[in-house]
Formats: sequence, structure tokens, C-alpha cells
Amino acid sequence: MSFIREGELTFIERFFANILKAGPMPKHVAFIMDGNRRYAQKCHVERQEGHSQGFEKLAETLRWCLNLGIREVTVYAFSIENFKRSKEEVDGLMDLARQKFSRLLEEQENWKKHGVCIRVLGDLHLLPVDIQELIARAVQATRSYNKCFLNVCFAYTSRHEICNAVREMAWGVEQGLLEPSDVSESLLEKCLYTSNSPDPDLLIRTSGEVRLSDFLLWQTSHSCLVFQSVLWPEYSFWNLCEAILRYQMNSSALQKARASYMDERKRQQMAKDQAYVRKKLQQEGTASHEDPVHQQNLLQQYTAMREERIQAFLQALEQKRVDFLDRLCTASA
Ligand code: IPE
Ligand code: IPE
Ligand code: MG
Repeated sequence: MSFIREGELTFIERFFANILKAGPMPKHVAFIMDGNRRYAQKCHVERQEGHSQGFEKLAETLRWCLNLGIREVTVYAFSIENFKRSKEEVDGLMDLARQKFSRLLEEQENWKKHGVCIRVLGDLHLLPVDIQELIARAVQATRSYNKCFLNVCFAYTSRHEICNAVREMAWGVEQGLLEPSDVSESLLEKCLYTSNSPDPDLLIRTSGEVRLSDFLLWQTSHSCLVFQSVLWPEYSFWNLCEAILRYQMNSSALQKARASYMDERKRQQMAKDQAYVRKKLQQEGTASHEDPVHQQNLLQQYTAMREERIQAFLQALEQKRVDFLDRLCTASA
């Protein structure tokens, strides 16, 4: 069973998809795929079978998303908290990951054909080394594809991710790449594992649990959150359509909230830069500090320097991540 299932929608699914597509469509959908064990219990099958069917449902859901024109999907596959489950269950889930990532590597042509870039978001160090290596190879193999994006959150929690982002910024200051005053919401966001993705428009959690379980806490403040009672392995095309409809009913309010947040963020950064320049001019104590043209020039210079500094830091950060994946790929070659 592969990650992407080939195939078109049925006639009736296509008909409904076209009606949906007449409205605003989410560009990025996130899933908390919950309820595998309850499904196994309900169907009197082994727990591992529940997880395995959960994976199959992911492949099916990706096909629906592709057919609906949704280009980015992020899934919560395994949380750091999930390591606390029984050894037997964790081992079973790791075996499933091994199987699926190996399969993914065998099916590279398929990924190329669909142009799917796979990213694995999480603290890879927490995983067995052979899985780290498989993940690194899968990520490197698909990194240049850009038609669709599949982000698999594995060994992930949001608080761990945010904490890691803060550590990266501290590293930047320590290395002399950043000034402490460069720290901002916008910079923190660029240090998250999700830095290459827009925020999700729609987040769906199955199984009736109404909580986020430490998933994308930063990224979903302006997302439509939909909680559905269906267990993940039973998720259907119609459940997905219902969630999209709910997004469509809220989308204009969400867009407005997002735009106003971005405006406010820009305004705050501008005020911060202006305050810095004013302080600098006062320190200079020359007559030119009253000159508005001089003030404007200084502001432009300061802003350009700050942006350059941040760019260089982000490049160094990206290089650190690529080097880590390269080392893992070389180790497994
Ligand atoms: C989600 O289903 C999959 C993982 C967390 C790996 P669960 O395993 O949480 O199943 P339920 O929620 O207990 O039914
Ligand atoms: C969240 O589900 C994690 C995944 C779906 C991978 P959990 O089932 O682990 O979350 P809680 O324990 O119910 O909050
Ligand atoms: Mg659960």
C-alpha cells in the first residue's frame, strides 16, 4: 500500500467536488488522524491493524485532496507524547513507519510524477537511527518537487517545536548572526519546522476529541478548526467535503483576521525600527537629528541591515538542517 493512491474521483464525488470548488478552497489542510485504536476495538481487530488501516486512510485522503486541488497537507502521525504508550505499541508504530518510508523510497517515480515534496516535521533525534536515515533519504529525494507538499509530523509536539525555535534564535545571537532585538514573532515563525509552509486554512480532528493535543498551536490561530466524530480509519470523502464546507462558511472572517494580524505585525516592526533610529540620533546629539531626510535615510539603512542579518541567519539555519540530513543520508549509503 503506497502513500499516494492512484485514481480519480467517482462521478458523484467529482460532481460534488466541482460544486465545492466554486467556493473558496483551503490551500493547506492539517489533520489530527485520531481514533485508530477505538476503530480496532470496534471492529475486533488487533490494535496494529487499526494503525495500519489509519495509514491506508491517509493515502486515500491525499488522493481526495489532490483531486480537490488542495496542494498542501500536514498530518499528525506520531506525537512525542505517544512515546509514552506501551513498548509493544510504540515498536509496532515504528515498524509501520519503517515499512512506509522504505516503500516511499521504492516509489520515487510516483512522487516525481505527482511532484510531491515530502517533509517530516519533528525532533528526528528522538527516533531510532535507521528511521532517521530513511526519513532523511525520503526528504532529500523529494526536496525539489513543488506541485504538492505533504508534511508528516512525526516525533512532533508544538511546544517542543516552539522551544526548539527559541533555541535556534539563541544560537543565532551566540554566533553573532543576530541581535537580540531581531527576535520577533515573524522571526520565530521562520525558525519553526513549518517555516516553508503557509499556515493551515483548515485543521480537522477526527474521533470526536475536541482538543489540539499539542499540534500546530502557533500556526492555527487563524485557521478554521473542525472536529468530527468519525474515527480516522473510517474517514470518507463526504466527511472531508463537510469540513471544507464549514471552512467556506468561515473563510472570509478568517482571511480578515489574518490580514489585520499581518498589518499589525508590520506596524509594530516599523515602530520598533523608528524607535531604534530615534534613540541612535539622540545619542549622536548632532544637529542633523532634527532633519527628516536624514532620519528617513537612517531608517532605511537600519531596516536593510536588519533584513540582511536575518537572511544570513536563516541561511545558516537552513544549512544546518541540510547538513544534518546529508550526514544521515551518507551514514546510510
Ligand atoms: C491516532 O489514533 C494514531 C496515533 C496516535 C499514532 P490513536 O492511537 O490515538 O487511537 P485512539 O484515539 O486511542 O482511538
Ligand atoms: C494525537 O492523538 C496524536 C496523533 C494523532 C498522532 P492522541 O490520541 O495521541 O492524543 P490524546 O492523547 O488523545 O490527546
Ligand atoms: Mg487518540
